[in-house]
Amino acid sequence: MNEEMLVRAAKNFGTPLYIYDLKEIENRIHKVQKTLEGVEHRIFFAFKSNSNFHLLKRMRAFGCGADVVSMSEYKMAKSVGFTSDEMVINGNGKTEDELGIYLKDKVRYINVDSMEEVERFPKNLSARVAIRINPNVDAKTHPHISTGLRENKFGVDMKEASKLIHTLPANLKLVGLHCHIGSQITDVSPFIDTLNSLKLFIDKEDLKLEFLNIGGGWGVDYLHNGTELSTEKYREKIVPLLKKIGIPIHLELGRFIIGPAGYLVTKVLEIKHSSFKNFIAVDASMSTFLRPILYNAHHHIEFLSNGSKILVDVVGRVCESGDTFGKNREVKTPKVGDLGIIYDVGAYGYSMASNYNLSLRPAEVIFDGKDFKLIRRRETFDDLIRL
Ligand code: LLP
Repeated sequence: MNEEMLVRAAKNFGTPLYIYDLKEIENRIHKVQKTLEGVEHRIFFAFKSNSNFHLLKRMRAFGCGADVVSMSEYKMAKSVGFTSDEMVINGNGKTEDELGIYLKDKVRYINVDSMEEVERFPKNLSARVAIRINPNVDAKTHPHISTGLRENKFGVDMKEASKLIHTLPANLKLVGLHCHIGSQITDVSPFIDTLNSLKLFIDKEDLKLEFLNIGGGWGVDYLHNGTELSTEKYREKIVPLLKKIGIPIHLELGRFIIGPAGYLVTKVLEIKHSSFKNFIAVDASMSTFLRPILYNAHHHIEFLSNGSKILVDVVGRVCESGDTFGKNREVKTPKVGDLGIIYDVGAYGYSMASNYNLSLRPAEVIFDGKDFKLIRRRETFDDLIRL
């Protein structure tokens, strides 16, 4: 999306503003499909990465199913129009009540996270289940978003999985295996290790499965230096393994599909020169966009200005020093009122926004290649006080 369009959107809808480029989302879904050409597969969109009602509707129209992890995500999937058969249920600590609702509704399947969870399934209803395997593979990502190591809370190891399979109650039908080793993975090797051990397990147990759910986790190029997970390498190294496994593949992708399609437009409020540093304060903050403070995540930032280059910290207005979008960044010196763009915020952006410091959550718009459309209005103080 070009600068002119971003300026136009900020003028029409104010700042801070999340903008999503629909064409880019569609292209990225096609990129996944192309990468997996020759392998029967289905993408379930990870709601947690972006749960805007309107965007979810688009995801369904693009052919994605729903990967949901909470009762509210489930209700959102229903409201958006996903049928039960298009929903996969994930997460740990599912309650008996929640499981009862999923089972009555006959969701496509539930990824079982533990031996203990099996006990909580209602005994009088049947369900299709997949077992979430924790393969103890290092996804080489930030520790908060690694999920496939044995110290992580998710899934069961192969030994437990085997026990589970042989002791599943008659009302639970094993239809697949599930494995999600982490998020923002940019190297194919953890996927290779995972698939090799899953294949061994399937063969050893002589499992006849409907599908293998390999989760999400495909990493994007936050650094803008070509570090996105290489789909060429994926095609070369992973696709043959998937073909060898020989059953339909389910994916639960979020970030790869929508991350780079999202922009956060923010306005410069102050340029502060201290004797030690320069700071640019903008009207977005850690309440608008949490990833930098939470994971020390790098996001590319640009100011729409013709000024000379300056070294700065780009900060928000929340009362914490960690409320910083980038440290020691070389940017074009803006003027107060100029716009800044924070890139690749489509995933885990708005969905992790908060009201900290009673910040009001921003508006969201989509761009269809021609026009912008408001898909969530800016929060108001009345919205906050209503509760
Ligand atoms: N499936 C399961 C079971 C998951 O736990 C996740 C993400 C996904 C799929 C989707 O992963 P993706 O394709 O988006 O990488 N807030 C963090 C990311 C947390 C991811 C949690 N699970 C961040 O901002 O980096």
